[in-house]
Amino acid sequence: MITKCIFPVAGYGTRFLPATKSQPKEMLPVVNKPLVQYGVEEAMEAGLVDVGFVTGRGKRTIGDHFDISYELEHQIKGTSKEHHLDGIRNVLDNCNFLFARQREMKGLGHAILTGRGMVGEHPFGVILADDLCITEEGDGVMAQMVKLYKQFRCSIVAIEEVPEDQVNRYGIVSGELIRDGLYRVVDMVEKPQPKDAPSNLAIIGRYILTPDIFDILENTPPGANGEIQITDALRKQCQDGVVLAYKFRGRRFDCGSIDGFVEATNYCYENLYKKGRL
Ligand code: UTP
Repeated sequence: MITKCIFPVAGYGTRFLPATKSQPKEMLPVVNKPLVQYGVEEAMEAGLVDVGFVTGRGKRTIGDHFDISYELEHQIKGTSKEHHLDGIRNVLDNCNFLFARQREMKGLGHAILTGRGMVGEHPFGVILADDLCITEEGDGVMAQMVKLYKQFRCSIVAIEEVPEDQVNRYGIVSGELIRDGLYRVVDMVEKPQPKDAPSNLAIIGRYILTPDIFDILENTPPGANGEIQITDALRKQCQDGVVLAYKFRGRRFDCGSIDGFVEATNYCYENLYKKGRL
């Protein structure tokens, strides 16, 4: 079954400068946990324990985070602070980590293609850690999508409705409703102007992709912003076969933006940290 998940973490995070000048955006903490750890825990919960990071320059601390810190372990052992490491230790005990380097930032599609060697000919998940997804009850978003994959065996994108004036920030899908919250994608377009958008259903940072996407990506020319867009490759996939769009259960915070990051921090502090769940 699906055990692999790609984390594209090579982006520059310019919206968070100067904080991201020498540290990755994905290591910014929401309360007391780095964004990327939330994402890896969501993958792990879904059974995606083979975690592949597509990294770039300046991202070394991500590798360090998912490794043992002997000095710290030694220092903290037997003290009242030891429990702070429980979460990350659990991740380290249960996941395998691989790294691939994206040398030039040519877009999300290119980042995913860079992860090909870590995935091989298997279906895989993709998590953009700067989209923080919280489900307080039941399955996390990736686990919900894995269940769907087991039933439909095709690529699946997570979607949510966004205000019309924000469609130009996302890949937007149009689709035929199959059942409540599940669409068969008919078309998709990356960052359309509101007047050209086929709907307000926006793709967020969770995907399950079948491995034929790699050959399609190889042949996908740069699109919006001059980048190789995963949305363009998925459009080809949905023309030749089936791609599903799934309105997930839970809340998504756009932690790639300052507003979304602050909102996520407030939400997690009130709803997770104060209730002893962080
Ligand atoms: P973003 O569009 O949020 O770009 O990428 P960014 O560079 O991280 O942030 P800003 O816009 O400069 O503030 C979405 C996701 O895709 C990854 C990013 O790391 C982020 O998780 N990405 C994007 C890559 O890994 N490689 C790329 O070439 C582009």
